[in-house]
Amino acid sequence: MIYADYNGSAPLSTAVKEYLIHRINTGPFANPNSSHHLGAKTMLGMNNARKICAQHLGAREDQIIFNSGSTEGTTTVFHSLLSEASATKTPYIFISNIEHPATHTTALSYEKQGFKVKFIPVNENGAIQISVFEQMVKEYRGQIAMAAVMASNNETGVLQPFEKIALICKDEKIPSFSDTTQYVGKLPFDFQKSQLDFAVLSGHKFGAMVGTGILLARDYRQVKPILLGGGQERNLRSGTQNYLGNETLAVALDAFAKKSNRIEILKHKKNDFEKKIKAAFPSVKIIGETVARLPGTTYLAYPKLFGQAIQIELESRDIFVSTSAACSDDKPITSRVLKAMKVDDATGRGGIRISLSIESNLEDSDSDYDKIYLALKDIYHKLLKINCF
Ligand SMILES: Cc1ncc(COP(=O)(O)O)c(C=O)c1O
Repeated sequence: MIYADYNGSAPLSTAVKEYLIHRINTGPFANPNSSHHLGAKTMLGMNNARKICAQHLGAREDQIIFNSGSTEGTTTVFHSLLSEASATKTPYIFISNIEHPATHTTALSYEKQGFKVKFIPVNENGAIQISVFEQMVKEYRGQIAMAAVMASNNETGVLQPFEKIALICKDEKIPSFSDTTQYVGKLPFDFQKSQLDFAVLSGHKFGAMVGTGILLARDYRQVKPILLGGGQERNLRSGTQNYLGNETLAVALDAFAKKSNRIEILKHKKNDFEKKIKAAFPSVKIIGETVARLPGTTYLAYPKLFGQAIQIELESRDIFVSTSAACSDDKPITSRVLKAMKVDDATGRGGIRISLSIESNLEDSDSDYDKIYLALKDIYHKLLKINCF
């Protein structure tokens, strides 16, 4: 079996699996907020995890708020920045036009309260151009409530200039937010250096347990909780903490740091794979081919072939990828992200996203990429014959 959908969700990392087996056998299990000995011990373990996460993310411990993942984190950021902001004085919410629905939908929901969403366009390679952002800032100076630009896109893997954006925002006194869900655990990330005010991540994207995440806040006093109750996480996120899950965040981040020498190997293998597939099938398009992307993400489209058909064929060969195309009534459609990149429908429908990780098998000629290449070759030939091109 080849799992090539790490951007969708990563399997538990080897280190997390080993950690959990030991952890489950030894305990402690208690409410970390209880004052008895077991509670205190559980809290100690979780706070140790917080410390390790902070070190790996270039953050202070007080900047880390454990939560259930990026959807929750993003909702909290918008609530923190907009619930008491004036839609009259600062009506504009800047977001890129390739954001994940967690940001896209949340931003649009504030239009009911009088805010207006302004989309920062990407170029045909799927990347934001700083000059375009600067121009927008100039045009709306003094009226921008916040700006959100993701660190890397989940469909294409294209890296965004989120640090430069954050720097401009800092100078212009615009609160900045980056969805770093697809970046953390794939490339080194330093919150302090980034100059961002807020960032979010989800544990299941890099080998920690699903249902875990972190909201990073430059100044935690700016966080306005969306969950009220027992006042856990310093009153910033009520609800008994998922201490076991939070510990796995630290283990997964630690494992990533220890294996980071594999990032280059992954990148090299991916480039090789892309070259081979392009040489064999010159019509194949690699979205964002010429710009910097995540080391293990390839969005591959064969115009006129349907991505879903390719995905099913791959699955029958025990290879799991995803398509980015939303599907209705069996009519695959080009995704919002690809449309923003002005990708035509013939190409947009033909896409599959192959996302591998440093935990994938990258060894020599037997690597996951080699196997995917052989399978794709076979499948393209088969589907092209059926379609009689
Ligand atoms: C870029 C990005 N942001 C946010 C999310 C939402 O993460 P979660 O479903 O873990 O809350 C995802 C998950 O697909 C993502 O890829």
